[in-house]
Amino acid sequence: MDDSQPNERKRLVDLLWGFAECRVLITAVELEVFTHIAKGHNTAQAIALQSESSERGVRILLNALVSTRFLSKSRNVYSLEPVSESYLVRGRKGYMGANVLHTIHLWERWGTLTQAVRRGTAVDLGSARERGKQFFPILVEALFPRNYPIACEACDRLGVGKTWQNLRVLDIAGGSGPWSIPIAERDPGSRVTLIDFPEPVKVAKRFAKKHRVLGRFEFVESNLWEAEWGSSQFDLVLFGHICHSEGEKKTREMIRRAFRALKPGGKLLIAEMVADDHRSEADSWALMFAVNMLVNTEEGDTFTSAEYRRWCKAAGFRAFEHLSVKEHSPLLVATK
Ligand SMILES: C[S@@+](CC[C@H](N)C(=O)[O-])C[C@H]1O[C@@H](n2cnc3c(N)ncnc32)[C@H](O)[C@@H]1O
Repeated sequence: MDDSQPNERKRLVDLLWGFAECRVLITAVELEVFTHIAKGHNTAQAIALQSESSERGVRILLNALVSTRFLSKSRNVYSLEPVSESYLVRGRKGYMGANVLHTIHLWERWGTLTQAVRRGTAVDLGSARERGKQFFPILVEALFPRNYPIACEACDRLGVGKTWQNLRVLDIAGGSGPWSIPIAERDPGSRVTLIDFPEPVKVAKRFAKKHRVLGRFEFVESNLWEAEWGSSQFDLVLFGHICHSEGEKKTREMIRRAFRALKPGGKLLIAEMVADDHRSEADSWALMFAVNMLVNTEEGDTFTSAEYRRWCKAAGFRAFEHLSVKEHSPLLVATK
């Protein structure tokens, strides 16, 4: 046996077992293990009773959660570690159950990867689309806390509500509204039109109400390809994480429609996972996310800044710049 690269061999073995930790966590959240413990049901027997599961199964699961530091154990009594205390107990402010449910959906789709690579597109797309309808509201709910702070940073950089006011905003596939709600909060004279399917719109209405800006929103419950985007009437068009699922051809068409919808001087803001120019960066989230698009969509992909720049220029935009923000690919801003 060639053992000349023991570290690389270990890396492979660890990688091949990487799924186990994730799967254990998913099942623990599905069975509400952390919530039961928070309520004082803290032995395998008590949790088995609460979750209608076998005591043997629960004991094995709990011990694996101890090994992955989500739980600690003393004399067969389990307690929460800070990470599970903060994020995995239902009802707590930071609860991440929606992210876990989203991962269950991804888990199923990624199981089709070999077939998708062979065919060059997602398999069983009809049922993936049906499931998508159920999982988009869960996804957009989980995306709000992630994107909202980045959007706040972008607003401050663009002078929204200060040097740039009374904005007419078009939020395409706006989801829960994390990109447009901060605009409405900063600019009392703004009006936002948010287009998305009915279920995500329900989530957006909830967030807009919570942030006290519901009155500044108009919601269009529609497929973005069937909705009217208008002409020369918006100051800002937002594409928040929508280009990757549409793919190149449709993204280029969306950019052309955004150009038409904008007033002269108006801006298109694209928030996306941007791949490096040579698609060769190590540990690149954008390159891994392209795989997610391969298993989930017909033509989805992640794109480079140079590609977006070229498409925006071809649509007629005169300027194209990067807005560097924390914990995200740079935001891309094209000006008409
Ligand atoms: C990844 S989420 C992004 C949501 C939001 N813009 C954000 O950045 O958090 C994608 C959104 O696109 C919406 N969407 C996907 N295809 C759509 C279509 N054809 N028409 C309208 N909305 C669409 C989904 O319902 C979902 O809300």
